[in-house]
Amino acid sequence: MAKSTSRFVCQSCGAGSPKWGGRCEACGEWNSIVEEAITPRPGPAAKVGVGKRVAFVDLAGNAEPPPRCPTGIAELDRVLGGGLVPASAVLVGGDPGIGKSTLLLQAAACVARTGRAVFYISGEESIEQTRMRARRLGVHDAPLQLAAAINLRDIAASLQAAGDAALVVIDSIQTMWLDAIDSAPGTVAQVRASSFELIQLAKAGKFALVLVGHVTKDGAIAGPRVLEHMVDAVLYFEGDRGHQFRILRAVKNRFGATDEIGVFEMTDRGLAEVANPSALFLAERRGNVTGSAVFAGLEGTRPVLVEVQALLSPNPSGTPRRSTIGWDGGRLPMLLAVLESRGGMRLSATDVYLNIAGGLRVSEPAADLAVAAALVSAATDQPTNADMVYFGEIGLSGEVRQVAQADSRLKEAAKLGFGQAMLPRRVARGNRAVAPPDGLELTEIGHISDLVSRFTPNSADST
Ligand code: TYD
Ligand code: MG
Repeated sequence: MAKSTSRFVCQSCGAGSPKWGGRCEACGEWNSIVEEAITPRPGPAAKVGVGKRVAFVDLAGNAEPPPRCPTGIAELDRVLGGGLVPASAVLVGGDPGIGKSTLLLQAAACVARTGRAVFYISGEESIEQTRMRARRLGVHDAPLQLAAAINLRDIAASLQAAGDAALVVIDSIQTMWLDAIDSAPGTVAQVRASSFELIQLAKAGKFALVLVGHVTKDGAIAGPRVLEHMVDAVLYFEGDRGHQFRILRAVKNRFGATDEIGVFEMTDRGLAEVANPSALFLAERRGNVTGSAVFAGLEGTRPVLVEVQALLSPNPSGTPRRSTIGWDGGRLPMLLAVLESRGGMRLSATDVYLNIAGGLRVSEPAADLAVAAALVSAATDQPTNADMVYFGEIGLSGEVRQVAQADSRLKEAAKLGFGQAMLPRRVARGNRAVAPPDGLELTEIGHISDLVSRFTPNSADST
């Protein structure tokens, strides 16, 4: 029987299927299935003889922390967990135009300036274009080795010949092409095989490998998601091109903490580090507006204050809209339901729009209380206290629950000049009495109705 020589692979999630379909059954993406040639596999292991023995070792050994090569960009180093790790691979994903090439060229130049051998291989831009960018970024004098290439065999040979690389940047993995694979660059098969080759090179040559990967909705280019399990760290570059802020977030890191973020600002001279993101996110806040509350959040180990904005508008049609930007869209209906049934608010015939100002994406349940405050403020048409920050998780019975690291949130609020904080009732654990930072007045609440009653003193009778 003739064996089929091709199969159909979803370019978004990498799932294979024997026939073409308009929608991937594994991930639900539309128009992402592309025919790819099957590369013949070597026969079963039995034919090539018995395998070699694998050496087993004890679990207890001297496991030293991996050596680090700081990039010199503090925000990037923080997300990496202290710097690049030799013989490891990092994937930097993000929408096209978000600033991946800019950041990596800046980082590569910084590392090159410390005297290490750095190779920047661009498959997307010509040497001239990269040079122009470097000039704009003010890094054109860095001793960095630049090449425009896509053929992986050539790249591998050149890197092996160079020998002493400390950092290799591949921009982007979707442009790389391995001639042994019979599919176009950017397909899952090519992206996987090229990455595998490059990662092997990095392990052998003990250099840090950074792969750039585009995330697009367009099925023509393989989503870097298929690579996530192959690399040691995955960083996503988030942000809105309409905003100046860019957030680099670690979603996987074998050598450090995840959920750590780095905040950058896109300027006309490249990406500038933002050492104090709270000040930036609150810069355009106007006091005494209804529907606005400041959330004292935590991103990784770092406290970040952001403004939560809510806008309500009556919708008598019966199918109100609920729309969120920067917050979990599934949590909003829950919170509205809690406010209705436990807080006595009437919100079911109102459109609700919720926005996290500045383009940050908040995923912590601790934001519930700030969101609730913004909603109640909008609903009652009374501004929240502009001098107050909010944090706390809200449960289905309306209880306000403890969240992690209240102390660092409060410290950040005090640092930015806030005078008050509303938070869950704190339980002193053992002797560890919790003292608020100087100058910060705490309002501890246990139930959502405590929040509602601050806006409508007679809410119990009036609703
Ligand atoms: P780029 O790094 O090319 O994005 P990616 O590699 O993720 O596709 O970033 C391109 C955008 O950044 C582009 O819209 C122009 C803008 N930019 C600046 O605003 N300032 C700069 O100094 C540079 C180099 C780019
Ligand atoms: Mg680019």
